[in-house]
Amino acid sequence: MKRALPLLSFGLAACSGVQHALDPASEESAFIGGLSWLLYGGATAIFLLVMAIAAYAVFGPESRKRLAHRKLIVGGGILFPVVTLTALMTYAFAGAPNLLLRGEPALHVEVTGEQYWWRVRYLDENGWAQFETANEIVVPANRTVAFHLRSADVIHSFWVPNLHGKLDMIPGHSKTMQVRPTRTGVYRGQCAEYCGTQHAKMAFTVEVVNEKDFERWHAARKATARIPDSPLLQRGRDVFLSAGCGSCHTVRGVNESRALGPDLTHVGSRRTLGAGAIPNSLGALAGWIADSQALKPGNRMPAFRNLQPGDLQAVAAYLASLE
Ligand code: CUA
Repeated sequence: MKRALPLLSFGLAACSGVQHALDPASEESAFIGGLSWLLYGGATAIFLLVMAIAAYAVFGPESRKRLAHRKLIVGGGILFPVVTLTALMTYAFAGAPNLLLRGEPALHVEVTGEQYWWRVRYLDENGWAQFETANEIVVPANRTVAFHLRSADVIHSFWVPNLHGKLDMIPGHSKTMQVRPTRTGVYRGQCAEYCGTQHAKMAFTVEVVNEKDFERWHAARKATARIPDSPLLQRGRDVFLSAGCGSCHTVRGVNESRALGPDLTHVGSRRTLGAGAIPNSLGALAGWIADSQALKPGNRMPAFRNLQPGDLQAVAAYLASLE
């Protein structure tokens, strides 16, 4: 029993978490979770029943061992599966509309899978981008959110287990996933379709917050970048423009780039760098700029090993200041 206890607590602890399909934080995942438990429960009951019958056939009294009569075969082999599977299918079909689009969403967010990060655009009611960010999505609780899913290169798959099932992001297509989060918290998502060398390091977060916090966050993200207020930060901004960072990355209010890489207007406030690859900090920013290929080999950003230490320090400080 002593040995069983840690196992049991591990089993129970494994049923909650920030990346868990059986710890629902939305109406959609609550339905998926319920259906899963029904399937696990039913499968366990049927497995135990079959094992009991098998044990009876093997160990039961000699006279009663013959179970192979017509009634059992027709009942257990045909009738029982037809009735159970039809009931299950009806239940699943009846609940399926819970997972589809219903009603007008309160918020539209476009998420584009890229090798290997997530481009996130918040859209207005006409479908125009209000602002762009990357890898960290914030949505209000108890509002219906539509995620418009696209891909820029290969097939990726958008998956936040606490909020919904998986949906592939296919080049040339746009698919919509509707989610109504019911619980605040930070939930982890992960690309669920092999998309190249850094598929495993293609993570993101969806943070569910209350309405007021969302309005505050949205207004802050819409704003242009903070203006550098010290000689070090001013030097950092100049390095950002002269070293070539600005040809792929946009810092709104400073430059317009080809937007090949993530928008860095508020990069200082992100939790991680490289789509969940490393925790964000001043040192991590400097390390990423100097040699992102060592931290996430195969990502599309070249290493900037040629930067002078003073310049590297300044540009990292500048980016860290962009909250
Ligand atoms: Cu993107 Cu796997």
